[in-house]
Amino acid sequence: MGELSDLRVAVAGLGPMGRGIARVFAQAGAAVVVVDADAETTAKGHAKLLDEAADSPVEVTAAASVGDAVRDADLFIEAIVEKVEAKVALLDQVRAAGNPDLVVASNTSSLSIGELGKAYGDPTRVVGLHFFNPPTRMRLVEIIRGAMTAPDVVEHARAWVAGLGKTAVLCADSPNFIVNRVCRPLYYESQLLVTQGVAPAVVDAAVKGALGHRMGPLELLDFTGLHTHLGSSETALREFGDPRYRPIPLTRRLVRAGTTGRTAGRGYYDYAAGKPREAQAAVLRQPGESQARIADGEITVYRTTGCTPEDVAAVRGMSGRVAVDSSHGGWVEHLPPGVGWVRLHQGREGTFAEVVADDVAGIEPAYDVVDALGAVSVPVLALPGLVVDRLMWTMVNEALTLVEEDIATAEDVDLALRLGMNHPTGPLERLAEVGPAEVLTGLRGLLDRFGDPRYRPAQLLVRQAAGAAR
Ligand code: NAI
Repeated sequence: MGELSDLRVAVAGLGPMGRGIARVFAQAGAAVVVVDADAETTAKGHAKLLDEAADSPVEVTAAASVGDAVRDADLFIEAIVEKVEAKVALLDQVRAAGNPDLVVASNTSSLSIGELGKAYGDPTRVVGLHFFNPPTRMRLVEIIRGAMTAPDVVEHARAWVAGLGKTAVLCADSPNFIVNRVCRPLYYESQLLVTQGVAPAVVDAAVKGALGHRMGPLELLDFTGLHTHLGSSETALREFGDPRYRPIPLTRRLVRAGTTGRTAGRGYYDYAAGKPREAQAAVLRQPGESQARIADGEITVYRTTGCTPEDVAAVRGMSGRVAVDSSHGGWVEHLPPGVGWVRLHQGREGTFAEVVADDVAGIEPAYDVVDALGAVSVPVLALPGLVVDRLMWTMVNEALTLVEEDIATAEDVDLALRLGMNHPTGPLERLAEVGPAEVLTGLRGLLDRFGDPRYRPAQLLVRQAAGAAR
């Protein structure tokens, strides 16, 4: 007997998501019936589901129609094609079955729960249950509360997710929900960095090394398919009406050329040339033997988050071998000749460094520093925020925007990113570590340099930075 042995669930749509969702409910002890578009696809999907569950068999029944599936159910979950007309037509059939107590859930990634609720005819009963792929393995479920969703429906949804042994986060009915929204800047900035001359493997290696992400953002985009990402960027731009969400032209060109990522054999990476992780390993520099010692003052590392006239004067006044540890774009113009430029991060396996390998910086002092610290490093271009901070600041800013707009709580945002993306630290935990002033200074630097609304700081960040300064 599982946790949900009193629950009767009907699942429509037997693609990978519907099959996985049906399986996890059955494993938790619920009585599960499934249905697809017609008798033939239902039979095929049902057989595939049982086959996939061969290692730990589950009991799932196939229904002859949607009406049959939902008539005696407590919960209906739709995981059919992501087309609003198809979902609306399906909800009509569910409504016609005449089960007013039914909780109606959609696994949609992009459609509005309010719109589906209106189409169903009783929006108080409709809720979003956004599972992650594959549902059998991913622990996170985003619960989406439509404007009219009844509080008891949300509470039931929470209890059922807990009964599955999964973790729920609560989200208002807002495009992209939590995980996919907070990750948007990570993808946009990594694409922009490539446009600005940084190799994809460098971007990904830097993010993995410094932030401990399992996959780099460009590798992930290739995995998802650039066409899918482009489509969701166009939706985000339209839905939010904010130019910060506009797609990156390079990706549009890659999609037009059919180079849409891993399945196509080429996207940001060329899969004929090898795996992304091989390309990433090839750009990393392992620490060498250095004679220089930081502790003995043979080399001075000047750490700063900014590039104020005082910072510049201080660095100019230093003698001997000097490196600046910063990601502030001002150093592009103000780095004194011969001074090295690094940005040191506490990675999962010790210090990880971005080393500016441009003409603007002295390379020897930079390598002296990383060697003395025993740090693995990656060579980057002298761009404001370098690679890692630029991605981190914009992601933190997006996360704060969700909190500011009351879409989700800070705790749920962090939880969602840790469980949904395997990020070792949530964006708002990262903000607490770094401090709002540093993120605000970074974003203002990017805004000043690129003049792009992508870098407009959230008002909540401005207020937090002001509060912290008092
Ligand atoms: P899919 O397109 O692979 O499968 C959809 C299934 O629905 C097919 O078996 C199709 O025959 C069936 N179907 C179509 N119209 C139907 C109808 N009127 N009645 C019953 N069944 C019908 O889709 P996938 O990838 O499994 O996703 C399903 C839903 O889950 C979509 O809303 C998608 O946005 C969402 N989702 C997908 C994720 C993913 O990574 N694939 C992640 C999270 C959510």
